[in-house]
Amino acid sequence: MNRSTANQQLLQRSRAAVWHPCTQMKHHETQPLLPIVRGEGAWLFDADGHRLLDAVSSWWVNLFGHNQPHIKAALRDQLERIEHVMLAGLTHEPVIELSERLAALTGLGHAFYASDGASAIEIALKMSAHAWRNHGRPGKNGFASLAHGYHGETVGALGVTDIPLFRSAYAPLLRPSAVLPSPDARAAAAGVDAAAHAEQCAQALEAWLDANHADTAALIVEPLVQCAAGMAMYDPHYLRRARALCDRYGLHLIADEIATGFGRTGTRFACEQAGVRPDFICLSKGLTGGYLPLSAVLTTDAVYAAFYDDDSARGFLHSHSYTGNALACRAALATLDLLDDAALQRNRETAARLSAAARVLDAHPSLVQARRLGMIWAWDVLSNDPLFARRYHRAALDEGLLLRPIGRTLYFMPPYVIDDEGIECLVNGALAALERTLAEAGTRIADGVPPALA
Ligand SMILES: Cc1ncc(COP(=O)(O)O)c(C=O)c1O
Repeated sequence: MNRSTANQQLLQRSRAAVWHPCTQMKHHETQPLLPIVRGEGAWLFDADGHRLLDAVSSWWVNLFGHNQPHIKAALRDQLERIEHVMLAGLTHEPVIELSERLAALTGLGHAFYASDGASAIEIALKMSAHAWRNHGRPGKNGFASLAHGYHGETVGALGVTDIPLFRSAYAPLLRPSAVLPSPDARAAAAGVDAAAHAEQCAQALEAWLDANHADTAALIVEPLVQCAAGMAMYDPHYLRRARALCDRYGLHLIADEIATGFGRTGTRFACEQAGVRPDFICLSKGLTGGYLPLSAVLTTDAVYAAFYDDDSARGFLHSHSYTGNALACRAALATLDLLDDAALQRNRETAARLSAAARVLDAHPSLVQARRLGMIWAWDVLSNDPLFARRYHRAALDEGLLLRPIGRTLYFMPPYVIDDEGIECLVNGALAALERTLAEAGTRIADGVPPALA
């Protein structure tokens, strides 16, 4: 990609002044940053007008596209009223309405706010352990989590995260949770289906809880899809069993729907597909349609009641300065307006078209474990190249696609507004990038790719 001087200057200034997230900055000596100046629908544009399909929804946050008129109008209106006010001792209409609407959607009536997903996880963990403490069970403060789970990068959230790349360097700072087998359907033994594998993992959970429930405050899970594990998908049976076991052994179930919420898995929340209501639900990412940082933890009347007291110390004395930011709440309300039943139906139709187009990927000899749920598609790549993800990312950029494989998992998580042109660009470009990446790494491309797409 040729870059203008304006673009070059932006990326040089960024490298000098900005420490970019989840990045070894030295890699930018050879892999240029991409300065984005504008977005429209599923597309991003750089200063030279080159367009790039945002096929990962800008880290899974964007639902209805960039430059979305309804969300923008709501934000403009809110800007004329009140942008932000502290939420201790004060309140405002957007936070009240958002809490009411989220309660109606989740069945959990008490909403506590923060700005990012990891902060929501911190809140849920603290609230769970503190609730048990207020019940006179201070020793019930451990957590159980799933293998390969990801819940964010703050110290508390890393304690329940099982991805060594993010966690190992900070091991001495962490209080690790117990890690239980993941129901990831890919790990099922030959001849064992996803539901049976989920049942085996539930039995392991049961055995562990039988011995450890007295010291355990909560089990935390990503419902149906462990996204950062490489879009590991599992059968809803596990969630039903986990709910029943948490009830039987007396611990909270925390559903981290930060990545799976707001229609991404086909229903508004992934838990709906198992028919379970968690004790805590953590929301962020799509909550504001990708406009502003906001997260929420919703919980039950029973948890709320455990804190309701004359004694301040029994209250939940957690805060962030921007808790319940009015602009972010308005963006969330506008996003919920857009996420009606018709939008979920449109997603089903879009998903069917994308799945049909992606059959060439399903059939590709270097791709295995094709899987999809709602608006998430994933394949595992047969490659030994440790640099596959970086090489693929670069090759995809050359095809006009923003794609960031996780390890050797190639996935699509596009904004819901992706149209037929976007789908065609995505599938053809992803295939071309795959062949280039495999060829670069010296992997022979097997025959069988339809010539039209080769
Ligand atoms: C399931 C899950 N939980 C928590 C987080 C952390 O959210 P944030 O990056 O906003 O802190 C993420 C981020 O990818 C996530 O996927």
